[in-house]
Amino acid sequence: MALRQIVHLPEPILRRKAKPVTRFDKDLQTLIDDMIETMREAPGVGLAAPQINISQQLAVVEYAEGEEDDEEENEDAPAKPKKLYVLINPEIAKVSDEKVMGVEGCLSIPGLIGEVERHEAIQVKALNRHGSPVKLKVDGWMARIFQHEIDHLNGVLFTDKAARVWKPSEDDQTELD
Ligand code: NI
Repeated sequence: MALRQIVHLPEPILRRKAKPVTRFDKDLQTLIDDMIETMREAPGVGLAAPQINISQQLAVVEYAEGEEDDEEENEDAPAKPKKLYVLINPEIAKVSDEKVMGVEGCLSIPGLIGEVERHEAIQVKALNRHGSPVKLKVDGWMARIFQHEIDHLNGVLFTDKAARVWKPSEDDQTELD
């Protein structure tokens, strides 16, 4: 495995619609493993292939569901396990009517965070790393991360959708993806 370099704005690939993945070969498996390693090293909760200069419909997401959703929960409770997803050629099949605001950052836009409205829950159709179709239902922050990553595959960045953006201070703790 190897770390890949994350590109930043104004790199044009970040604005391009990525091409569908068609070959589920050994090179793709290496690329996926490299993306997971690069996301963890960043650290981030998601990474899309265009962010490492590869125009392919591929993203990885890793996050402990519920982390931010249950605020009353005992702080001494054991940490929830992280869930890892590999999304290939993903399409949003259904969205909740309910939308929620949240603060996002992006590994490709250092030094800027913003408040973005997202669907609270979504259903996604995608392929897994072996090319088999999967249907995923996610909500809360996982749904937010999925929407952020799928936007990346369409050349869309969180700053396009943000109600406002600002430079983070030390009090702003935001996951990046
Ligand atoms: Ni991002």
